[in-house]
Amino acid sequence: MSASANPWSGADVLVTGHTGFKGGWLSLWLSELGARVHGLALDPTADALFFDVADVGPRLASDRRGDVRDLGVVVDAVQSARPKVVFHLAAQPLVRESYQDPVGAFAVNVMGAVHLIEAVRRTPSVEAVVIVASDKVYENREWEHPYRETDRLGGRDPYSASKGACEIAVASLRASFFGPGDHPARVASVRAGNVIGGGDFSADRLVPDCMRAFARGEPVRLRFPNAVRPWQHVLEPLRGYIMLAEHLLGSDGARHARAWNFGPAPADEAPVGALAERLAALWGPGAKVEMDASGSHPHEAGLLRLDSTLARLGLGWEPRLDLADALALTISWHRAHAAGQDMASVTLGQISAYAGGRE
Ligand SMILES: NC(=O)c1ccc[n+]([C@@H]2O[C@H](COP(=O)([O-])OP(=O)(O)OC[C@H]3O[C@@H](n4cnc5c(N)ncnc54)[C@H](O)[C@@H]3O)[C@@H](O)[C@H]2O)c1
Repeated sequence: MSASANPWSGADVLVTGHTGFKGGWLSLWLSELGARVHGLALDPTADALFFDVADVGPRLASDRRGDVRDLGVVVDAVQSARPKVVFHLAAQPLVRESYQDPVGAFAVNVMGAVHLIEAVRRTPSVEAVVIVASDKVYENREWEHPYRETDRLGGRDPYSASKGACEIAVASLRASFFGPGDHPARVASVRAGNVIGGGDFSADRLVPDCMRAFARGEPVRLRFPNAVRPWQHVLEPLRGYIMLAEHLLGSDGARHARAWNFGPAPADEAPVGALAERLAALWGPGAKVEMDASGSHPHEAGLLRLDSTLARLGLGWEPRLDLADALALTISWHRAHAAGQDMASVTLGQISAYAGGRE
């Protein structure tokens, strides 16, 4: 990309959820592209180490800590940043936590997005908005077919339902307030798979659970070993989000203001148990995988596949890492971290090696 064609150079960009896993990686990547990145999120939680370990803070043009459940906070953050592009990642992202606090999941995941879009309506600088939803927005029929963007939304557990409800709200607000003659921003939503990568230390996620257990020399216990998930490295969907935003900024951007799937290649949709076994093999001696037979786990979908044909044809995006590459990058990040290396440069090195081949 030539410097003059780089839409990110000097552009103000707001990333909500920048203190989290995906938001942290995205903020670093956007700043590498030349953007002035503004953040809005809560303080990182005790297990959200990526923000500090990868030194995201110094790369930001501004760093606001606030709650997206508060409309005033969101309006103030968006109006102060005056962004050209907004990526909305702030969310309660865990299925199990949504069983413990369903009200919180709906409040953050639905009203956070509604507040964000309301704030955009009041901010003329915004040209493109990418709302990060989830692969779990679809009404899960436990069928073999991958879900397409036009499949019915649903969600049996509160997290999935909150993300599906977020999508319905976004579609309504887009149709109501961002059509011809309205606010010119193009508003899209994105649905990615289960991301893995260095720096995710969240509880109740497979890779961090494996890393913690293996490091302690304990077996990792799997709740749903046969559940099939679309695994992908975090940089894969983030490249899709960035490409989508570039298309939204383009002369035919309105055409792209819709929902998009960004899933892995079908061969990388693997059962939880198989992925854990591959991680254990990569880790080496001492890593063990066991089934958690307590039988008292709340429901989670068994089979989930994503069809990314639209992203391939409409954006020219397709996965470029297979599962083996994604696991190798993840393990190498965690090994470097355990060895006390400078994780800002390790992380930026992974971004630049991956982005070297960016379309
Ligand atoms: N990680 C995955 O596998 C995955 C898969 C599909 C979709 N997603 C979606 O991607 C997005 C980012 O997920 P992640 O894995 O980086 O999660 P994360 O938990 O690492 O980060 C969540 C971010 O949201 C912020 N946040 C949470 N509640 C907030 C509130 N009330 N006000 C302001 N900020 C708040 C946190 O401070 C943090 O910055 C989420 O929307 C999630 O649903 C993640």
